[in-house]
Amino acid sequence: MLPFIRSDLAEFTAYKPHPSSDRAQPVSQTQLDRLDTNESPYDLPVRLKEKLAWTYQQIIETNRYPDGNHGELKSAIAEYVNESAALSPSVFTSANISVANGSDELIRSLLIASCLGEGSVLVANPTFSMYAILAKTLGIPTVEVNRQQNSFEINLQAAQTAIEQTQNPPIRAIFVVHPNSPTANALTPAELAWLRSLPDRILVVIDEAYFEFSQTTVVTELLEHPNWIVLRTFSKAFRLAAMRVGYCVAHPEFITILEKVRLPYNLSSFSMAAALIALQNRQLLLSSIPQILEERAKLLEILSQQPQLQVWDSAANFIYLRLKQDGWQQQDTIKKLNQQLQARGTLVREISGGLRITIGTPQENLRTLNNLQLALANLNS
Ligand SMILES: Cc1ncc(COP(=O)(O)O)c(C=O)c1O
Repeated sequence: MLPFIRSDLAEFTAYKPHPSSDRAQPVSQTQLDRLDTNESPYDLPVRLKEKLAWTYQQIIETNRYPDGNHGELKSAIAEYVNESAALSPSVFTSANISVANGSDELIRSLLIASCLGEGSVLVANPTFSMYAILAKTLGIPTVEVNRQQNSFEINLQAAQTAIEQTQNPPIRAIFVVHPNSPTANALTPAELAWLRSLPDRILVVIDEAYFEFSQTTVVTELLEHPNWIVLRTFSKAFRLAAMRVGYCVAHPEFITILEKVRLPYNLSSFSMAAALIALQNRQLLLSSIPQILEERAKLLEILSQQPQLQVWDSAANFIYLRLKQDGWQQQDTIKKLNQQLQARGTLVREISGGLRITIGTPQENLRTLNNLQLALANLNS
């Protein structure tokens, strides 16, 4: 290893996004259904792409730095946040918003602002893996607790004990997803009550990446809890995963700190223009959600009749399932199942002993069902 490199990074496994060459639609006849990263199955409508292309041609000066204050975008986001929480008159303003190169960047900024050099972070597994990965890259210790076997509710007793007993450094931040990924369950009243009971010295990050699908938000609670922050993204329901735009809603004092921590020009002019166009056309873009939810219900109904599978209810645009079979073979069999799906062109995410499957177009979902039935039959033969 090169002698100047931090020793702990040598042991470290990088997050593996699917290499684009693996996921790109092949020129051959094999159809690839990319149901492994919870994106929207729908691209931006052509009319909006044309608007974006026009903005690029006519407005954006590529020789100039982008607006490093994100002024226009922050105002539009604040308006959307108020509207999405039915807050009238408006409560949140630009002062409550920070935007970043995907919510991944915000996760890193949050860790820098709360834990770096002073604290540990608490997560409840299985959950979004980037919290622990980013903490590791910063040398921040991660304390992990588990979830209940069947409901995937956080083991609150273990979490409380971790908060009380972790020393050197103590827990300074907790990350939860609402609804959780990969398990698709929203925070329960008991989990919310526990989060409310946490002392002000602990940052509570509530990641609402899938808010538009769940339609449940805790954003109004930010007013009572200055130590809470809500994270959101344009990568899912707003169909802009390629553009990398995420944002958070928080107390203005904390936003000031996050603005100090981020890179000065963290968002390109093109990405900002895309996010603005998406917000201006939100009715059109979000009109695909009812159909995705109907498809989810169909998929859940059919899969829950499959005797080999345990399928969980979902509040997001993906579902989570495991094999009913117990024991060490389960891991092996789920791997085989995933390989068979992949060979048939259905890409899903194998995670925590199960499969997370994004809801796609009706045609994609039909293929998922067929391929899953075939793969299950093959396992038995
Ligand atoms: C819970 C959660 N948070 C954050 C992200 C990252 O989103 P972004 O594309 O904005 O970085 C994801 C992406 O899958 C996610 O599932």
